[in-house]
Amino acid sequence: MLLHVDRTCKPPNATWDEKDKRARCSLRRALLRSLRAMNALPRQPRDREPSSAISSATAPAMLVLGGSGVIGSAVCRHFARHGWNVIVHYHTNRAAADAVLRVIEEHGRRGEVFQADVGDPASVHAMFDLMQHAWPGLDACVWAVGRAVNRVTVRLTPSEWDGMMRANLTGLFLCLQRAGEIFSKQRGGAVTVVGSLTGELGRAGHAAYAACKAGAVGFVKSAAREFGNVNVRVNAVFPGWHPSPLAGAAFPGPDDLDDHVLGRTPSLDDVADVIYRLTTARDISGQIYNVDNRLW
Ligand SMILES: NC(=O)c1ccc[n+]([C@@H]2O[C@H](COP(=O)([O-])OP(=O)(O)OC[C@H]3O[C@@H](n4cnc5c(N)ncnc54)[C@H](OP(=O)(O)O)[C@@H]3O)[C@@H](O)[C@H]2O)c1
Repeated sequence: MLLHVDRTCKPPNATWDEKDKRARCSLRRALLRSLRAMNALPRQPRDREPSSAISSATAPAMLVLGGSGVIGSAVCRHFARHGWNVIVHYHTNRAAADAVLRVIEEHGRRGEVFQADVGDPASVHAMFDLMQHAWPGLDACVWAVGRAVNRVTVRLTPSEWDGMMRANLTGLFLCLQRAGEIFSKQRGGAVTVVGSLTGELGRAGHAAYAACKAGAVGFVKSAAREFGNVNVRVNAVFPGWHPSPLAGAAFPGPDDLDDHVLGRTPSLDDVADVIYRLTTARDISGQIYNVDNRLW
């Protein structure tokens, strides 16, 4: 095979492209730094952190995907307690979403419930279109959707595999694409994805779920890189075990907690609070936090 060797002094185009890209990136980073120093970047959640004096008309707003679930509803309640307006997403459990909305309103904040099957692009786009119409500003988004089938690989059916991929991974992509678009336009926003330590450790009977959660970590890190230059932060937390429809019978009993150095599972309050602190941080992105006491 003959290789063409360019003997001119000019480096191959790719090198110039690379240098150009690097120069543009460092210019963009310098610009972001100076904008941030001037406090000129809008809609960074912490800049809009509510005080008791702020009314619900001007309070920051967040969307909780999977707000009808056990972890999602704890996140909704926690943010409402801290003065946020909260948009609650649900899939099938409208009653749970309505109950969460009532708590948000008891805290003197506003909210609304929206339905979507996150694995269905048409359903996701319809929900975001409706939501953007009613809530033109959004400051943060939490992903707390999840679906798990506890079955060893040899018994898992292709449709069970597909259902988990659609809800856990395709849904994450579709929703973060729309939320990322909103945040990019306003040059600020925060996304926190509820992942799972199972994606890192693996677990018998949870291969498809673990594959989704490992994929979510790669997605979060890549999205953090992509959105960093428009001041959008993307992080993930592993919430530890919680009794919920998703955990089902896999939830460990008191004799199965040897891997927990404190001998107990974490509280929902701790998980919601770490998500709150990550959302209202200013300079943290692309990070994965294990909100648990298992060593990893
Ligand atoms: N519980 C644990 O021990 C544990 C441990 C590690 C990680 N996690 C993660 O934490 C997150 C929340 O789990 P959870 O324990 O709170 O579970 P959960 O109570 O069963 O809630 C699951 C949520 O996902 C929604 N959902 C499921 N399939 C959907 C679909 N196709 N489209 C739209 N929404 C869908 C459900 O909506 P509806 O109920 O309205 O149908 C519900 O809001 C998940 O990402 C999970 O992987 C949980």
